Amino acid sequence: MTTRQSAHTSTDGRVKSYPAPSQLATITDLTSQEAQAITEALNPLIADAFALYVKTKNFHWHLIGSHFRDYHLLFDEHADALLESIDLLAERVRRIGGTTIRSISHISQLQTIKDDNNDVVPAGDMVRRLMEDNRHLAQAQRVAHEVCEKNRDYATTSLLETILDNTERRKWFLFEIMQGINNTD
Ligand SMILES: [Fe+2]
Repeated sequence: MTTRQSAHTSTDGRVKSYPAPSQLATITDLTSQEAQAITEALNPLIADAFALYVKTKNFHWHLIGSHFRDYHLLFDEHADALLESIDLLAERVRRIGGTTIRSISHISQLQTIKDDNNDVVPAGDMVRRLMEDNRHLAQAQRVAHEVCEKNRDYATTSLLETILDNTERRKWFLFEIMQGINNTD
């Protein structure tokens, strides 16, 4: 272990999010099994929100085509909503005594949404890819909601209901835009 490597990094280099170091083990009436299950359900959602935030900003910055203004503004709105959800979820993890995202490398360990490093992406493909990613995120948020409910974390289920609704709103906008896109768009 290097001096900069945390004791909470396992031998395979993966960051351990639960149990927290004693100084960060916020007290909770949830059992440690419940808090661990919730932590392990939420942290990948946060990593995915980060990944999708960056992808949405990437497309906001690298957009080309006749719909520039509309999509540029829409992607920014979507990115803002994703960013807001990150802090809300990360602070839920801390309130129940788990630890959350530490770094870009931690995000890459947990993310299930793929990065997009293509040089040029046609605007229509941007909309389609973001729609698919938001669909994937909604599915993951719904599964995490079930985990939180099963483990008595009703505050997080309530929060996730709003976050899921926002994800579905983004998906809806992107899906409807796709109906008007032809392949050369
Ligand atoms: Fe901007």
